[in-house]
Amino acid sequence: MAKLPIPFPILISIIPVIAAVIFFQLESFDPVPYPEHELTRKEPLFVPKLNSQLLRGSEKIGEGQLTAPEDIAYDPKTGEIYTGCLDGWVSRVRLNGSASEAVVEKWVNTGGRPLGIAHGVNGEVIVADANKGLLNISRDGVIELLTDEAEGLKFKLTDAVDVGPDGILYFTDASYKHTFEMNVLDLVEGRPNGRFLSYDPSTKETQVLVKDLYFANGVAVSPDQTFVIFCETAMRRCKRYYIQGPRKGSVDIFVENLPGLADNIRYDGEGQYWIGLTTEQHMFELYKRYPSIRKIIGMMEKYTGRPHTEKNGGVIAVDLDGKPTAHYHDPDISLVSSGVKIGDHLYCGSLVRSYIVRLNLSQYPATPAK
Ligand SMILES: *[C@@H]1O[C@H](CO)[C@@H](O)[C@H](O)[C@H]1NC(C)=O
Ligand SMILES: *[C@@H]1O[C@H](CO)[C@@H](O)[C@H](O)[C@H]1NC(C)=O
Ligand SMILES: *[C@@H]1O[C@H](CO)[C@@H](O)[C@H](O)[C@H]1NC(C)=O
Repeated sequence: MAKLPIPFPILISIIPVIAAVIFFQLESFDPVPYPEHELTRKEPLFVPKLNSQLLRGSEKIGEGQLTAPEDIAYDPKTGEIYTGCLDGWVSRVRLNGSASEAVVEKWVNTGGRPLGIAHGVNGEVIVADANKGLLNISRDGVIELLTDEAEGLKFKLTDAVDVGPDGILYFTDASYKHTFEMNVLDLVEGRPNGRFLSYDPSTKETQVLVKDLYFANGVAVSPDQTFVIFCETAMRRCKRYYIQGPRKGSVDIFVENLPGLADNIRYDGEGQYWIGLTTEQHMFELYKRYPSIRKIIGMMEKYTGRPHTEKNGGVIAVDLDGKPTAHYHDPDISLVSSGVKIGDHLYCGSLVRSYIVRLNLSQYPATPAK
């Protein structure tokens, strides 16, 4: 009888290793290195004021009635908040005194995953639905698809929207390649699959304004309407696209090196933008340098589920020039998708919680950082 070249017990123990290597090699998900200039390390961004316990003293709005309310749009005329949930519902929340008195009404179900939400100029509600595209929901609740592709490429993860001058809609498709459910794949692939776009209701034309973005996310039109800010989640920054004036059509950095992954951005009407941060940077910056680690994370996400390392999410406020003013965070909150300041309160959307987190900023302000 021929002798095995490798002793049997050793052979048995290396088979799973060989199988894992082959599985890894054959896997179609194929992350790439980031361009070197995108990886330069910078000093942490200095934020002059902090509240490191965002949850302390916070209240739960609509607890149990909102499934992962992602973005928040406030209608000052009715005093209602609109938010899009994981189960497809666009819900209206009537704020009336204490958190427990807030009334949640399930308004319209898109049949998709409503994310970004904004009030249009004719009383309609515009929704960036991850699965469906850009939607117009009329006052009486009729849904119309405005656009779901540009330059022959279909959107896969329509993410955020805001309304500009002349009712032009500015919005993002985070990825033309990966879905909302599998958005982690886009974050770890290292390829810029995102686009920043506009839709003109008068011509029904969709235009790609900026492409090759690393997870294009939150959108906010500046109060003077000269530029539109959009977040690039994987790069922890927001860019600025000029829509008027001498710089029209050009792009620059609005704020970079954020202390976390930027999701939605909202202007408060009082000189500050509020940016939701899903998690602090921690592990992600390390992963960025190693495509093979990112490949393993992607494969775990696809086949087994990955360990959840997100933590210390929150909201950062920046002024009209993108200079940080305050950072509200908490080690025990992650996947904060948006922050909106209404009156005294900060309202935080979430990718996982069943309510909106509300904090009274006069009572629990950010205080000067040491
Ligand atoms: C609270 O809501 C009720 C009914 O929706 C309304 O009658 C009342 O005026 C509201 N109060 C405030 C302070 O907005
Ligand atoms: C949305 O639909 C309503 C009702 O048809 C219409 O008045 C409004 O102009 C539409 N908005 C956009 C952006 O198409
Ligand atoms: C927020 O806190 C301030 C300061 O403690 C208080 O005066 C105010 O009434 C609070 N606002 C609400 C709506 O509870």
